[in-house]
Amino acid sequence: MNTSHIIDGEASVTAAVQAAMADTANPRLRDIMAAVVEHSHALIREVNLTEDEFQAAIRFLTLIGQQTNDSHNEVILAADVLGISTLVALRNSPEHEGQTAAALLGPFWRADAPFCENGDNIARCDMPGAVMDVSGQVSDVRGNPVADAVVDVWQASPVGLYENQDDQQPDMNLRGRFRTDAQGRYRFRTVRPAGYPVPTHGVVGELLRAQGRHCMRPAHLHFMVHREHYKTLVTQVFADDCTHLGSDVVFGVSRALIGTFRSHDPRPGSDEPHYRLEYDFVIEAGQSCLPTAPIK
Ligand SMILES: [Fe+2]
Repeated sequence: MNTSHIIDGEASVTAAVQAAMADTANPRLRDIMAAVVEHSHALIREVNLTEDEFQAAIRFLTLIGQQTNDSHNEVILAADVLGISTLVALRNSPEHEGQTAAALLGPFWRADAPFCENGDNIARCDMPGAVMDVSGQVSDVRGNPVADAVVDVWQASPVGLYENQDDQQPDMNLRGRFRTDAQGRYRFRTVRPAGYPVPTHGVVGELLRAQGRHCMRPAHLHFMVHREHYKTLVTQVFADDCTHLGSDVVFGVSRALIGTFRSHDPRPGSDEPHYRLEYDFVIEAGQSCLPTAPIK
């Protein structure tokens, strides 16, 4: 009789579960699940988890699933505010050859943003706020320009809302895809984004309040640089002059990703300053792939 699953006191549980999973055919799944069991059991022992606390954890996990829908992903938000998304992104994109630092995808990327011509304005309606011209170059780790790369950009509005959160904005506003030219350059016009709170209507908001944390992200633009035979770069560029730069609720700000938002004189007929951002990306050879869009 195989008795390896018979529990002989609290101390034997971990070994019994490890034994039950030992024949997992996929070695990577076997290793990851062995570590999940080892570390989660160790956590329970370390904090002496009570039955009530276990129920609270079950409620949290249940609600992050139930509060996820086509336009909002509470699971990603939970991973973001715990630093998990940033840790995974940075560990999988080391900067040892000078590649641009990765940053988290976030919950607002949509696949199939419209293709635009270099120089186009991604503000697809009249918008208040400061105009900003963004340009830069995509190159490889040897400094050679990468032509025909797709630079996919998405950002919040000057009041800090993505178009899918805001009835006042047209579909795909402040989103666009640009192809780099023969010199690897891209450029577009937009409006300066504002920082914004992450959604706090759900259970992640409850957690932030319980921890006495603010819910703000510093102003930023999201970029995904994609080209066949190069590893897809997912990153964000942050405004160097914005509030909360040093206390991003989702830990997305790497020092190398702080962009210089240069202010110029207002355009004729406007009181708003005109900003310029020049930001170059360095991508490495590898397998390109697109993530699964968290929202449609
Ligand atoms: Fe964002």
